Amino acid sequence: MTRNSMLRLALGALPLLAGMEGAYAGSNGLAITPQMGWNTWNHFGCDISEDTIVSAAQAFVNYNLTQYGYEYILMDDCWQAPARDNATGAPVADPDKFPNGVKDLSDKIHAMGLKFGIYSSAGTYTCGGKFGSLDYEEIDAQTYADWGVDYLKYDNCYNQGRAGTPLISYERYNNMSMALNATGRPILYSMCNWGEDGPWNFAVTIANSWRISGDIFDVYDGYDDRCPCTSMLDCKLAGFHCSMTRIIDFAAPLGQKAGPGKWNDLDMLEVGNGGMSYDEYVTHFSMWSILKSPLILGNDVTDMTNDTLEIITNDAIIALNQDSSGSPAVRIWKKATNDTGSGTGDLSLWVGSLANSEYVIALMNTSPSSQEVSLSFKEIFGDQGSSAQTASWTLYDLWQKDSTGAWGLNTGTMQGSIPNVNIGAHQTKVWKAVQASGSTTKRRGSVVEL
Ligand code: GAL
Repeated sequence: MTRNSMLRLALGALPLLAGMEGAYAGSNGLAITPQMGWNTWNHFGCDISEDTIVSAAQAFVNYNLTQYGYEYILMDDCWQAPARDNATGAPVADPDKFPNGVKDLSDKIHAMGLKFGIYSSAGTYTCGGKFGSLDYEEIDAQTYADWGVDYLKYDNCYNQGRAGTPLISYERYNNMSMALNATGRPILYSMCNWGEDGPWNFAVTIANSWRISGDIFDVYDGYDDRCPCTSMLDCKLAGFHCSMTRIIDFAAPLGQKAGPGKWNDLDMLEVGNGGMSYDEYVTHFSMWSILKSPLILGNDVTDMTNDTLEIITNDAIIALNQDSSGSPAVRIWKKATNDTGSGTGDLSLWVGSLANSEYVIALMNTSPSSQEVSLSFKEIFGDQGSSAQTASWTLYDLWQKDSTGAWGLNTGTMQGSIPNVNIGAHQTKVWKAVQASGSTTKRRGSVVEL
């Protein structure tokens, strides 16, 4: 064993040379809980300007969205001028869309108490055909830092074939990670390589989060050839037009290495963009929350219905996402439903541990008809030992309000099972479970198990 590797062991997960690390939680201290904010892309695409972004920031202030944890205002693709600065090679913003420049824009966002993020691609061009950052990492990172950027979403288009093994992808993304950290400014590094080469395995020491799949589309379910993979574990063409529930399927097995500062990004939210029903958006917001995805709004926040606002400000659901244990929920089972006539679907049961020995339990029904099911604590707490399975649990339904108007209606204390749950088509139920009696159970794997 070399001296370096012995030292590394002694330091645990800490990289050896402070000056040689990239932009990840160990160096920038960011995204200890999943990042929350808003991004231009899902609603506005390339049709953005200073006004689009400042107006969204103003809406954050008007609706007090920071109170719920939303803090980043993110400018996605198409902010760039046709070319870099001829003399210096530095990136330049489109002068028509951003007549006052990016520094002025970020100053405005900061003055509103928010943080500002930018987009580029680890390729020669971005996906929108603008100049990319491949082999321009240092000058771009330094320019972003000089502009007061707090967050970089870093895409994967036109990557010159520099992908195909985890190491090749790692090196390409690590170049920007190192460049960001070298600026000395804490910049949240949000990789967007669509799950290529398995970033959940290689990116934990270079980024704060990574996209796991092709682009989300504002539709509830269904297969689309433009999002051809059935699993992300060995996907060769991540694509786009991925329905919301397909991304949940993609995410189900990927939670193992995610945790504080290193998150699976299920892509930006579509809540409020109009392609799904209220119940479907409740599913979307709930599942993104319990799988610990970043919660990045993708709607027009200057023009929201009450339903949209209600969903994105459900603070009991957001608290699951921001829970300090940082543990993505696990799918316990998925069962096809017995539907007749109008299509098929599944019921699935999800459980996640929270701080203070509390749990989240979610039941998702993707079938087009309502279902009735009883959930035993044996199956729910299969990993938690017999004391959890036999204890009494008080369940709070986090999509119902109590008499004070707060999310989280106490639906009673139960032992043995949650009996006769009725769940409508395309609905998701989310409960917080708090132990009511018996010894305090500890998760398996903790030092003391009672
Ligand atoms: C895609 C990315 C989208 C959006 C778009 C911009 O590759 O996944 O989220 O950023 O590029 O062109």
